[in-house]
Amino acid sequence: MEFKIKKICCIGAGYVGGPTMAVIADKCKGIEVNVVDLNRERIAAWNSENLSELPIFEPGLKNIITRRRGENLHFSCDVEMNIALADMIFISVNTPIKKSGIGAGMASDLKWVESSTRQILEHAQGNTIVVEKSTLPVKTAKTIKSILESNKNSNKNFSVLSNPEFLAEGTAIDDLINPDRVLIGGEDRNAIDELIKIYENWVPKNKIITTNLWSSELSKLSANAFLAQRISSINTISAICETTGSNINDVSKAIGMDSRIGSEFLKAGPGFGGSCFKKDILNLVYLCQYYGLGEVANFWKSVVDINSWQKDRISKIIVKNLFGTIAGKKLGIFGFSFKANTNDTRESPAIEICKSLLDEGAILQIYDPKVSFDSIKKDLSTIGEDSIPKNDNYGHWIFSRKSLEAAKDTDAIIILTDWDEFKTYNWEEIYELMRIPAWIFDTRNVIESPKHIRSLGFNLWQLGIN
Ligand code: UDX
Ligand code: UDX
Repeated sequence: MEFKIKKICCIGAGYVGGPTMAVIADKCKGIEVNVVDLNRERIAAWNSENLSELPIFEPGLKNIITRRRGENLHFSCDVEMNIALADMIFISVNTPIKKSGIGAGMASDLKWVESSTRQILEHAQGNTIVVEKSTLPVKTAKTIKSILESNKNSNKNFSVLSNPEFLAEGTAIDDLINPDRVLIGGEDRNAIDELIKIYENWVPKNKIITTNLWSSELSKLSANAFLAQRISSINTISAICETTGSNINDVSKAIGMDSRIGSEFLKAGPGFGGSCFKKDILNLVYLCQYYGLGEVANFWKSVVDINSWQKDRISKIIVKNLFGTIAGKKLGIFGFSFKANTNDTRESPAIEICKSLLDEGAILQIYDPKVSFDSIKKDLSTIGEDSIPKNDNYGHWIFSRKSLEAAKDTDAIIILTDWDEFKTYNWEEIYELMRIPAWIFDTRNVIESPKHIRSLGFNLWQLGIN
């Protein structure tokens, strides 16, 4: 099949689709990029004059949007028309874990992928390359292909590629501009070459690798499983450090300097969050179970189990140190996003930790530099819109616009996200606002001078440090 890529359409203007298309538009000025989404509010936010209202926060994103929006980068709800005009279509819709039915709690819900594929089948014109961008269970491309091939209209031809996105939130733009590798899976050489031509505009050729569709899909799931496994591993070591008098920062450094291990992704913390790790590992577990590989399924499932254990462990440590009861006590929560430099809270460890503290009856004053009140409200609601207390003593939470506000009258500050600003706080000023004995629970080890903090009068607990 012959292709000539002049127009790209991306279905899904989320954390992946938005930044990825912004960078493609910036690097390929001759290509028109249309990002479409069903969600009108999200599209309105992408089109907002005020760039601080963009739906997602990513360092460097605003600059690209300023340069390309209205030039060769457009955001709209007009899905059908933009599918019809496109030579290449990226599917970047969300694939949440199924809540019910076969594979509930583990398998991905592919209904959005299927409905997007059906829309493509109906509206595409001529030869079209369809690229899977969302992280999907292995063999999803087969589903996409069989829907597209059900087409009997000879005027429409499709070629399906898998091109998983490895960007991490908070560093999305940098990861897109300088990727470790670009992975393209597919069977149609011409289609693969067209996608390579796009990336070649800024990615060195030796970093663009091609495989078959299934290897590409499995590589993405496996990469996330390996990364998450490192975090669960180091988090188990943090607990051993606390009981043996070792220091997790020193242990991480010492083991990371072994070039076979490597220094990245060895930071102990309150557990991994984000939209991908848990979902992708559970997908892998489901796949293993499906193929009768019970032991392999158990191995990967334990990575997720350790993550839950770490969050639970931290809540218990907080309660224990605050004399075994936090009912009615005010606690300042510093950081709610799943990591620094993003406003995303999906699967953030803060959610489970805050829920456990609320369950103990605490009053939480929550501050995060980028997360909105609405996101926190959604995350902490147990059922639907309103928080339904699980017990009579269930606590409540307050949104704080400033860290000082969140610290006022509290017994403890709990640092849950590694935001840089926490490193430069005037802790003396914060101490003055708190009730004594005042505690800091630093689950990210952002405090670099524990001696100084203790000299101000604080009790300080840091993860993996005795
Ligand atoms: C993506 C991938 O889709 C997911 O599989 C991967 O694991 C992580 O990255 P992300 O971009 O983070 O997800 O998701 P989200 O921010 O929820 O964006 C998806 C967008 O697709 C939403 O804005 C949603 O409104 C839109 N959508 C969904 C459509 O436009 N059409 C649909 O049919 C379904
Ligand atoms: C991840 C993968 O890194 C990315 O390649 C993939 O495409 C999507 O999933 P993301 O979820 O955005 O990206 O963030 P990541 O930086 O991987 O962090 C995930 C979680 O692990 C965060 O909660 C983070 O705080 C935690 N983490 C990370 C640690 O606790 N310690 C570390 O050393 C690194």
